[in-house]
Amino acid sequence: MRISQCREEDVETLDAHMPFRGATSHHGVRWARQREGRCTFLVAWSEERPVGSCEVRWEGCEAPEVRAVHPDCPEVNGLGVWPETLRSEGIGTALIKEAERLATGRGCRAIGLGVEKNNPRAHALYDRLGYRPSTPYLDCWSYEDGSGVTHRVADACVFMVKLF
Ligand SMILES: CC(C)(COP(=O)(O)OP(=O)(O)OC[C@H]1O[C@@H](n2cnc3c(N)ncnc32)[C@H](O)[C@@H]1OP(=O)(O)O)[C@@H](O)C(=O)NCCC(=O)NCCS
Repeated sequence: MRISQCREEDVETLDAHMPFRGATSHHGVRWARQREGRCTFLVAWSEERPVGSCEVRWEGCEAPEVRAVHPDCPEVNGLGVWPETLRSEGIGTALIKEAERLATGRGCRAIGLGVEKNNPRAHALYDRLGYRPSTPYLDCWSYEDGSGVTHRVADACVFMVKLF
């Protein structure tokens, strides 16, 4: 398994292998943010197949509740491992470690991530990796389905922070 920054030509491969909700590829959106220098979009590969990804958002969490408390804290966003049969093999941990390595390389003093309140297994993983719960917030996002209808979602989350 290796981890690399997403390249433009990887977006189509990601769309083919990794599911996304709605009609718009969030991989393309993440890659475009990386091109603007706003994030680093990391992809984990097993041979030629993408098996996980996450985005390190250098501008931090979008939620105002979190920004008020952690204005300069980069965020690991959209962490996921596919297919499910490859979970619990260390891929998620490797992606987080690479995000931390990049953050310390930039001189960041902390890094954070949001976890849904109803995801105790992910919470337990982040806790084991040194992340501590800090700020409850609503993760508001939307997606457009195949018929062009926009669905708005608000997930109750807690922002967890690791200090370097
Ligand atoms: C959370 C996730 C990214 C972790 O990646 P991973 O490669 O499975 O993580 P690791 O192998 O490094 O660590 C395994 C730990 O992840 C946690 N975990 C959380 N959700 C899990 C899931 N659906 N399946 C397996 N492990 C999960 C557990 O604490 C697990 O430890 P355990 O095997 O002792 O139960 C991955 O499991 C996943 O994509 N889950 C579904 C989506 C999700 O919950 N994303 C997190 C949003 S905050």
